[in-house]
Amino acid sequence: MKRRDLNRLALAWALSAWAQVGPAHASGRRASGPAWQANPFALGVASGQPRPDSVVLWTRLLFAEADLPLQAQAQTVLCEVFADEALRQPVRQWHTETDARRGHSVHVIASGLQPRRTYWYRFVCGTASSPVGRTRTAPAVDAPVQQLRIAQASCQHFEQGHYVAHREMAQRDLDFVLFLGDYIYESSNPRYRIRPHQGGVPKTLDEYRQRHAQYKGDPDLRACHAAHPWVMTWDDHEVVNGYANDLDNQYTDPAVFLRRRAAAYQAYFEHMPVRIGPDPAAPHQMRIHDRMVWGQLAELWTLDSRQYRDHQACPDPNRGGARVVVGCDALQDVRRSMLGSAQEAWLTQGLGESTRRWKLIAQSTQMSPTGVPTPLGRSSFNDAWDGYPLARERLLASIAEARLQDVLVLGGDVHMNVAANLRARPNDERSPVVASEIVTTSVTSRGMGEALLATIRDNNPDIRHARADERGYTLLDIRPGGVSATFRATPFPAQADSVLRDQARFEVLAGRAGVQAV
Ligand SMILES: [Fe+2]
Repeated sequence: MKRRDLNRLALAWALSAWAQVGPAHASGRRASGPAWQANPFALGVASGQPRPDSVVLWTRLLFAEADLPLQAQAQTVLCEVFADEALRQPVRQWHTETDARRGHSVHVIASGLQPRRTYWYRFVCGTASSPVGRTRTAPAVDAPVQQLRIAQASCQHFEQGHYVAHREMAQRDLDFVLFLGDYIYESSNPRYRIRPHQGGVPKTLDEYRQRHAQYKGDPDLRACHAAHPWVMTWDDHEVVNGYANDLDNQYTDPAVFLRRRAAAYQAYFEHMPVRIGPDPAAPHQMRIHDRMVWGQLAELWTLDSRQYRDHQACPDPNRGGARVVVGCDALQDVRRSMLGSAQEAWLTQGLGESTRRWKLIAQSTQMSPTGVPTPLGRSSFNDAWDGYPLARERLLASIAEARLQDVLVLGGDVHMNVAANLRARPNDERSPVVASEIVTTSVTSRGMGEALLATIRDNNPDIRHARADERGYTLLDIRPGGVSATFRATPFPAQADSVLRDQARFEVLAGRAGVQAV
């Protein structure tokens, strides 16, 4: 069979909702367990956080009405890894127990794998078998890698569009998907609804589980998880819009809000291919920030810009948190931090010590400035890095002082494609460009209007490209000599039959900070 045919076969397999396990299966053994009335692997499979010798493999059992009696019991799930698409060459397998306390989610750290290899995997429980997923390990840490291909994505409000971006990503040849937050949305906006959320605004663990399960019900999203490993961080909507650390926009008692945050973090863990879940001793805490290397070519930090940040400066006393502020003195408080002091120190130290060519800082939001002049002074959106200007200056100044080259900041959250230059003092030509920024537009979520965006562009020369009218994702092709970023986009709203095209392409050349239009 030709490779192309095998690809097609594997994809058809990955997309099939139901496959019975029989003695003909490659591993030649069955997992003991229940005889299912309906396939419990309806949420699909996923992999993530690739390392040279391991990757996280994920699934979650979902119980149909007819299988509900099984839900109270612990289940044994077999996880099998193969070296080939036809599943004839078993590599390793693991038996793992899951139960209702973790929403019957399964996380297997598949270890003992070879670097920079493609593997196929599936889960088996009793008579049921999952769709087949494909994943890929990272290269050896010292390998002279010539290329890294990433699809960068964020913000996938289920109600506001279809996941055509994921459909295309699933077909691409990628090393991994980098998802930068707003995986689910807790809220609704009836004006832009083209398909509805089930249920109201989630607050409890069960409600967050239902919301995640609805998102994973989308076949394009499942296909993209099955096709590539994902590297992930979160933003605010995984819990609630505009939250900062222990505070939401309603000024809910932090002790109460942290219980909601714990429920949201637990549901997030149960649905994502991530290594670490909530801290059992303090379940409102969960470490998501991480560092990985891609041979000698790149080092990637995925940051958490929600859990440890200082509260937004100058909040509205009635409506709270995130908003545009003018004349806000608190912005100049040097103690304020977006990442929290521990994560900030960890990042700065890691950047200074890195020996990899490209230093990729993946975080949820936009680092370049978006303020505009008003009669009362320049505005600042207090939820993005403009709301933490001295923390931004610290980070960029440390990059300049360490004479680091080839730092690229990757962001999401703001529902627009942005290519920008980063300086310790934004928009100040006397302050050198020390890093570059690529922000990806949303997969579906609506962006800001063009009139406001034009004013932002006119007043922020560091922004070299900004478009908020289209949905999609960004393709990053990282090589020793340069990074190419292609914005793949389609007009809002993304319809089921929408097609993506190139909106723009930017390049960052090795040894020269700053983005250049191609
Ligand atoms: Fe968003």
